[in-house]
Amino acid sequence: NVLILDFGSQYTQLIARRVRELNIFCEIFPYNHIPSDLSSYKAVILGGSPFSVRGEDAPHPDLSQIRGKMPLLAVCYGAQYLAHFSGGEVAASNTREYGRANLSYIKEGETFFEGVSENSQVWMSHSDSIKALPTNAVKLASTHDVEYAAYKIEGETTYAIQYHPEVYHSTDGKQMLENFLVKIAEVPQNFTPNAFVDEMVAELKEKLGNDKVVLGLSGGVDSTVAAVLLNKAIGQNLYCIFVNNGLLRKNEFQNVLDQYKGMGLNVKGVDAGDRFLGELAGISDPETKRKTIGRVFIEVFDDESHLLEDVKWLAQGTIYPDVIESVSVKGPSATIKSHHNVGGLPDYMKLKIVEPLRMLFKDEVRRVGATLGIDPELLGRHPFPGPGLSIRILGDITPEKVRILQDVDSVFIEGLKSWGLYDKVWQAGAILLPVNSVGVMGDERTYEKVVALRAVESTDGMTADWVHLPYDFLMKVSNDIINKVKGVNRVVYDISSKPPATIEWE
Ligand code: XMP
Repeated sequence: NVLILDFGSQYTQLIARRVRELNIFCEIFPYNHIPSDLSSYKAVILGGSPFSVRGEDAPHPDLSQIRGKMPLLAVCYGAQYLAHFSGGEVAASNTREYGRANLSYIKEGETFFEGVSENSQVWMSHSDSIKALPTNAVKLASTHDVEYAAYKIEGETTYAIQYHPEVYHSTDGKQMLENFLVKIAEVPQNFTPNAFVDEMVAELKEKLGNDKVVLGLSGGVDSTVAAVLLNKAIGQNLYCIFVNNGLLRKNEFQNVLDQYKGMGLNVKGVDAGDRFLGELAGISDPETKRKTIGRVFIEVFDDESHLLEDVKWLAQGTIYPDVIESVSVKGPSATIKSHHNVGGLPDYMKLKIVEPLRMLFKDEVRRVGATLGIDPELLGRHPFPGPGLSIRILGDITPEKVRILQDVDSVFIEGLKSWGLYDKVWQAGAILLPVNSVGVMGDERTYEKVVALRAVESTDGMTADWVHLPYDFLMKVSNDIINKVKGVNRVVYDISSKPPATIEWE
């Protein structure tokens, strides 16, 4: 187990992912909330930070239980922190040190650099520079512009590097992390999907015993994997509820329900589409739509779970990025949209919460799902927002608009699949615009709806680029939509990136 201390860098989660790729379990904690019991940790990594060690607001971790007592790797801010407060010197750099650089010197015979090529490319991102090393330090590497790109402290197992090994552009970054964690710190590489499944199933059996558990399935990857894992542990004591809010993709409710039943899950499908659409009638404001759907979902789910007797636990598919306590750098970040609703259902349900995936990243959830034998097609599904098509129908929602959008979306998604493009896209969908435009069909003038298609590449939804779908594909899809979907006479393609746009239009 490895402890990563976060100083607010956007790259901290990436360090954790790289460490996990080495089959080593790790956890992220804010620098000012270091766990009091460190006995289960075999090594510590200090991450980067947007702060300067010279600033008054610089993060000051208390490393007294760590330094010299266990293997420590300090990255970027961490490296500067060790230098600045242990007898070295850090000053503003006079050359720009951002982007790719190459190691121009590597000290010979260092385990840390085993397997790392001469001139290895590394990724720099800092505005301060280490001008003098801390006491007892030895230089291990330099680049053209950065003399102290890496150093170690004699008499301790402490290493420090100015560049970011976790970033893809640091070609041998993963090798260096492996050298440090496996060869130097001797951390065992035993965190595999199989091991996770075995351990989690045992833990769930122990924790849940004969208790009944209820879980809301959404058709998405996380809740599905959580359900299969729980099913493996407690079998038919897991009661799954799958709610149709009337805003799912075309035929999705029935298809996914059938799929779940085929997987041996004890699942009840609740078709509450009319109730949702009834409550949404006349609402145009995006946030009010989200809140209405959230409220109705809780009501439906609550009614259903009250039909079950003696349920003690509520299971959720929460994953690690929702759990990590982040270091606030610019104060509480402004609410952009009211999703990211960690915390789930209200207290009055009085159920204990069980979250078997809370320590996993999304890609790990997929790998665990594969280990559990879940259909790859289900695991590869694009993300789909909880409020479903409601936030892709701009303006108010009517059953007719839902029908139009389901048909358009279906042509688009099926098209992506048949052209072999679906897996190359992170998320795709269609948006029904609140405008009519003039068209001509045969001899007739039409005045019908405009739809926008959106397809993006992303890794986590935080940033995204629009996908350069082939023109031939767009032409075919546009034709199919206009010919097959009554009420639509114009198709446009969204070519905005996030930021400054968002993935959804509402
Ligand atoms: P945005 O539009 O913020 O979307 O760029 C980022 C990701 O979040 C999804 N999204 C939601 N998911 N409830 C959800 O469960 C929501 O209200 C919601 N709004 C956006 C969006 O589909 C994309 O994957």
